[in-house]
Amino acid sequence: MSLQLQYGRPQSLMGWVETNRARLKPPVCNAAIYPDGDYIINMVGGPNTRTDFHDNPTEEIFYQIQGNCHLNIWDRDRFDRIDIREGELFLLPAHVIHSPQRPEPGLCLLIEKPRPQGALDSLQWYCPRCAGLVWRASKQLESLVDDLPKVYEMFYATTDEERTCKQCGTVHPGRDYAAWQALRQASA
Ligand SMILES: [Fe+2]
Repeated sequence: MSLQLQYGRPQSLMGWVETNRARLKPPVCNAAIYPDGDYIINMVGGPNTRTDFHDNPTEEIFYQIQGNCHLNIWDRDRFDRIDIREGELFLLPAHVIHSPQRPEPGLCLLIEKPRPQGALDSLQWYCPRCAGLVWRASKQLESLVDDLPKVYEMFYATTDEERTCKQCGTVHPGRDYAAWQALRQASA
């Protein structure tokens, strides 16, 4: 009798990438390598930039295989930045509020944990001028690939009025990362 392996034999990671290359492009950019396994193991492609910040109740492991990326960080009303360069491994602690930016083509192996019941993920959008919270949504996350884009679309559908910062009156530009970054640099 042959060995029963639910997820198959060891496979070539880059072979998997070649087969699934089309799934690593915007708007989603990531795909689960073992969608039925206990671990959440995703490959993330690029380029892709985004304006959302993610508050994850669990840790995230980044292994940047190709290209360079960085995480914009929001921490106590200030923005910061963590560069993850090609070949680097990074374990992001839970609840470090981060916005992954992939300005160049690349590949990143991203490993996450299934969320315990009651541990919610949040997506948050911050004012580029004063770092005040403009909009947020929380969710019991079941699928990384399917659940998050639905929340993005809710934010992108908001009006300018709904995206106006209550602290300083700046209108958040929505999904346009270049515009968000330009406003941020203008006020730095
Ligand atoms: Fe503001």
